[in-house]
Parts: sequence; C-alpha cells; structure tokens
Amino acid sequence: MKIAVMPGDGVGKEVIPEGLKVLQVAAKKFGFVYHTTDYPFGAEYYLEKKITLPDSSLKELAAHDAILFGAVGADPRGNALIPQGLIETEILLKMRFELDQYINLRPTKLLPGVPTPLANVQAGDIDMVIVRENTEGLYCGNGGFLYKDTPHEVANQIEVTTRRGVERAIRYAFEYARKFNRKKVTLVAKTNVLRFAHNLWMRAFEEVKKDYAGIATDYHHVDACTMYMVTKPKIYDVIVTTNMFGDIITDLGAAIQGGMGMAASGNINPTREAASMFEPVHGSAPDIAGKGYANPIATFLSVAMMLDFLGQAEAAKSINAACAKVVADRKNHTRDLGGTAGTSQVGDAVASLVAG
Ligand code: NAD
Ligand code: IPM
Ligand code: MN
Repeated sequence: MKIAVMPGDGVGKEVIPEGLKVLQVAAKKFGFVYHTTDYPFGAEYYLEKKITLPDSSLKELAAHDAILFGAVGADPRGNALIPQGLIETEILLKMRFELDQYINLRPTKLLPGVPTPLANVQAGDIDMVIVRENTEGLYCGNGGFLYKDTPHEVANQIEVTTRRGVERAIRYAFEYARKFNRKKVTLVAKTNVLRFAHNLWMRAFEEVKKDYAGIATDYHHVDACTMYMVTKPKIYDVIVTTNMFGDIITDLGAAIQGGMGMAASGNINPTREAASMFEPVHGSAPDIAGKGYANPIATFLSVAMMLDFLGQAEAAKSINAACAKVVADRKNHTRDLGGTAGTSQVGDAVASLVAG
C-alpha cells in the first residue's frame, strides 16, 4: 500500500505523527505492508517557498492508494501574508476536485464516555453518517468581481449543480445504507429557496430512491436540520447533502459527538481511479497548535476509515474499538473533552490496545 502523508499546518503536525504510530502498530499486528511518501505542503511551506501544491506532486498523489491528510491553514501571523483562502483552495480543495473525490464521508457518532453538549442524549442516540457531495456546489470556484472596489461592485459566487454530480452522491448514500444496513436516507437541502439547484437535487433523489425499496427516505430543509440535529439527533441515519451544507452540518455534527477532535472523514473517489484522502474534519486549530494537547482521536478514526477502504477491515475494526475503549476512560481525555491528557498519551493508549 502506497500512502501519501501530508500533515499540513498547526495541529495537523501533531496528530498525524500519532496517526502514523497507530498505523505502524496495526500493520505489525495485522500483517500488512505499507510505505509512505511525505508531502510538506501547507501555509508554512507557502510562506517559505511561495508554492502551494505543484501539478507534478498532484500527479504523484493521485497514483498513491490513499492520502493521509492533517489540516492546512495559517496562524494569525501568516494570515496577513497569504491571500485569503489560497492554501485551503489550492491544496485541499484542489486534491478533492482534481482527484475526483466526489464523496466526503463524515460519520457522526457519540462514543460512550465522551461528553456531549446536548442534554438527555446517550451514546447510541447520535449515530449518523453524513454524505457530503464534494466536488461541486458553491465550492466549485466559479465566480468573480465586477467593478471591484467601486460603489457598484458586484460579486458572483455561483453554485454549480450537475445531474451527474448529485446523482452519484445520492446513489452513494443509498448504496452505503444498503451495505451497512442503515434504515433511512434523508436529503438535506433548501428546495424552498434554491428553486433550481435544489430542485435538481430533489428530482434526482426521488428517482434514485426508487431503486432502493426497503430504505426509508425523508427530506429536511437545512435550517430545520440544524435544529433537529440538536433537539432530536436520533432521527438521522444517513444524510446526503450539498457541499456547502455538508461542510456546515458536519461541524455541528462534530460538536454533538464531542468536538472537532472526534470527527473523522474520508474524501472518497469510489472509482479508485485516483487516490482517496482521509483526514480529521478539523482545521489547523491555531488557538491550540504547538501545545501538545490536540485530540488525535479524529485522526485515528480517519486512519481506520483509510484502512477499511484499503481492504484492511480487521485492522480498521481494531483501531475503532481501541478508540472507543480509550475515550471511555476519562483519564485519556484531552482538554477539549474536559481532561488533561496530551496528544501522545492518547496515541500511546490507542497504539497499545491495537498491539494487543
Ligand atoms: P478548526 O477546526 O481549526 O478549530 C475550531 C475549534 O476546534 C478551535 O477551538 C480548535 O481549538 C478546536 N479543535 C480543532 N481541532 C481540534 C483537535 N484535534 N483537538 C482539540 N480541539 C480542536 O477551525 P478554524 O479555527 O475555523 O480554522 C483554522 C484554520 O484551519 C483556518 O485557516 C481554516 O481555513 C483551516 N481549516 C482547514 C481544514 C482542513 O484542512 N481540513 C478544516 C477546517 C479549517
Ligand atoms: C472542511 C474544511 C474545508 C471545507 C475548508 C478548509 C476548505 O472546512 O474540510 O470541512 O470547507 O471543506
Ligand atoms: Mn469544514
């Protein structure tokens, strides 16, 4: 297995080495062989070299079996020196788009022993999988300014929605439900206002669902969805949604599952024609970077998703079980969970459970 490793910036540099530690232990235990290639890209690299992600590297990345990604993003010092959004779009979004990772799979599950800000919610009440369309919508970068810096300035940011793009995301959500015996797929959009783009989503959803008898379906407007995720998260099983709404509701999902340090994701190209990329949902967290107490659980759960994708289901299961066991014990909680544990302490605890 050829795995590209891109820690990026901030806490990405702290959680990825722990992820590699767990990967190494899993390889030994489950008898698979992998080899890694390191990529240095991110805000810090850009500040030094004025390079974001060269096309030659993108080509190499595509040819790997998977990419393990940390997070990119500037700290406040860099923000003034880097054009707004340059790093995020020219590195992270470029990989998602160019490698056609059209699914962003974001499981949202509250593990036993993890504090949630929601009252009267038990582990088991929050167990949903959000399928975020990952290559179109408001993220496509189509738009521009007219009459910039004049009183007549016009800014367009165009939401691009294609039949092919929405249909493949919706179909993936139903296939996922079928494969993992999930009972319901909910479309989350805003059909009452976005009467063209989200009408297309709705029509595609109505048509695709006919192929999946036995799986219940529902539709929620995104505003109502954010309310239900807080008031009755149990109603959600599989959600399929647009790129922008998926971005927003998965941070909400992260919050109710214990915080950004708990939320894993896979940017998946199901055709396997180019590498898929696995990463914690969180960013570079400049507010806590360098302190040694970022929560690495989201990274471990992302490593497990990666191994599952690469056909190492037993290793994936073992990492998931180890994470669940580790977070059930408060002494392993990092500060975001209300504890005092450090990043590498949590990494050691998970690694030693995986090692058996
Ligand atoms: P963030 O996810 O970096 O941080 C949000 C909050 O969550 C902060 O309070 C942070 O301390 C906390 N947090 C995040 N990860 C944590 C972890 N592992 N353990 C404990 N606490 C954690 O989001 P932000 O502050 O909006 O963005 C910071 C930078 O990261 C920005 O430049 C943004 O564009 C970028 N970003 C990158 C990615 C990515 O690379 N995938 C994702 C989101 C944001
Ligand atoms: C995420 C992040 C990215 C996104 C940013 C950094 C471009 O917030 O992975 O959720 O908006 O998709
Ligand atoms: Mn996000």
